[in-house]
Amino acid sequence: MKLKAIILAAGEGKRMKSRLPKVLHKVCGQPILEHVVELAEASYVEECIVVVGHGAEEVKKSLPTHVKTVLQSEQLGTGHAMMMAYDNIDDNGLVLVLYGDGPLITEETLKSLMDYHTKGDYSATVLTTDLTNPQGYGRIIRDENLQLKKIVEEKDATTEEKAVKEINSGIYCFSSKALKKSLPLIKNENAQKEYYLTDALTLIKEDGLKVGLYKTLDYKEIMAVNDRLQLAEVEEIMRSRINSRHMKEGVTIINPKATYIDKKVKIGQDTIIYPGTMLKGKTVIGEDCIIGPNSVIEDCQIGNGVEIQNSNLVESSVDDFSTVGPFAYLRPNSSVGKHVKIGDFVELKNAKIGDHSKASHLAYIGDAEVGQHVNIGCGVVFVNYDGKNKFKTIVEDYAFIGSNSNLIAPVLVKKNGFIASGSTITKEVPEGALAVARSRQENKENWVTRKGMLKE
Ligand code: UD1
Ligand code: CA
Repeated sequence: MKLKAIILAAGEGKRMKSRLPKVLHKVCGQPILEHVVELAEASYVEECIVVVGHGAEEVKKSLPTHVKTVLQSEQLGTGHAMMMAYDNIDDNGLVLVLYGDGPLITEETLKSLMDYHTKGDYSATVLTTDLTNPQGYGRIIRDENLQLKKIVEEKDATTEEKAVKEINSGIYCFSSKALKKSLPLIKNENAQKEYYLTDALTLIKEDGLKVGLYKTLDYKEIMAVNDRLQLAEVEEIMRSRINSRHMKEGVTIINPKATYIDKKVKIGQDTIIYPGTMLKGKTVIGEDCIIGPNSVIEDCQIGNGVEIQNSNLVESSVDDFSTVGPFAYLRPNSSVGKHVKIGDFVELKNAKIGDHSKASHLAYIGDAEVGQHVNIGCGVVFVNYDGKNKFKTIVEDYAFIGSNSNLIAPVLVKKNGFIASGSTITKEVPEGALAVARSRQENKENWVTRKGMLKE
């Protein structure tokens, strides 16, 4: 049977007090809405339709091209939002309704909801949960047979109804046919003068069809983001789920509360993550690594047995058994080979470093290709920019770049080339040659005495 998801995301999100549409705020590195779309797609949904309204253009742009959007230019309620997607609803099939601001619902729960719906032969099924503080939510009013009588919104509820702890999550599974029949019949005769999707359930019942209630015990799954406090709460829950998953798969996280890992990051077995570390985007980390403390690694490939301490790495790769940091900065398009040492205060940009090479301290290596077994001394600068253009430096295998040298690009240091400390290299260094490019030392005897500055 064809399964579609309709994701409601047209609301303004006033309480966020933000210029950014609410559903584009990030949780664990991804927009809230993106989490919801991914979740729907992981739950066998064939097509996702997102109802956009506030910030429609921005929201559309954030979505992958295969996700369909429909516009709700005026927000007249959840029922009205669903009406905008009316033409996309098949005559036969299932429709899963999700909220663009609720990223914590799990695949397992969605699958159970759909199973319950199908097995019970329901025409609509509502996901519910009990809340100790149900304020603000629609309450589930059950009849004497414990079946759904109706859903009342807080603003329309009597004192008695307000005391009910079971709430409507806003997540539903509908049979397309029943949904299509009920949507046009929804009226806005209520306290908010809105078209409530919840009324579709009463209409379906009145049509003699079955409406199911599927209760989840984990109230966290239905949490939505309405303000920045909830944004932080939701982030904390998702972060803790991600960290737990890695720990269960054999990663040591010294302090999960202070470790920030995006959803798509992969980490190998027996890697240890120290506090203050952020692993972002599509980063992949191998086995037996030691990462952190305080490292930010975004969209990087890290091999096995790598150590990265107090460093920032962006769009770069580090191969097996290399060490980075403390306080190193790998900027985009850098690739570090095996058994390499990138030490303290070393910056790489668009640079390739061959196996067994070392830059142990205080160096800038930009737009460079460095071979194997190369030693880059302390304070070496790859001078890649003349104020207008960037140029490349090539350093071949076994070269030795003495401390505090400048390599003025474009320049080539050939195999086994040896550069004397303090040199400013502007010409090619031949294979096996020593290049000394600094002024000779001159000593002026007794100069201090002559100046009357001698101290004893
Ligand atoms: C809705 C439910 C309520 C439920 C609660 C769960 C109705 C009438 N009420 O209430 O029973 O307990 O969710 O969170 O459905 N949206 C649109 N267009 C609109 C209105 C809303 O796209 O015109 C979207 C919002 O962006 C949001 C979602 O629908 O993602 C829910 O809207 P919201 O206004 O928060 O619904 P509630 O009043 O909280
Ligand atoms: Ca809400």
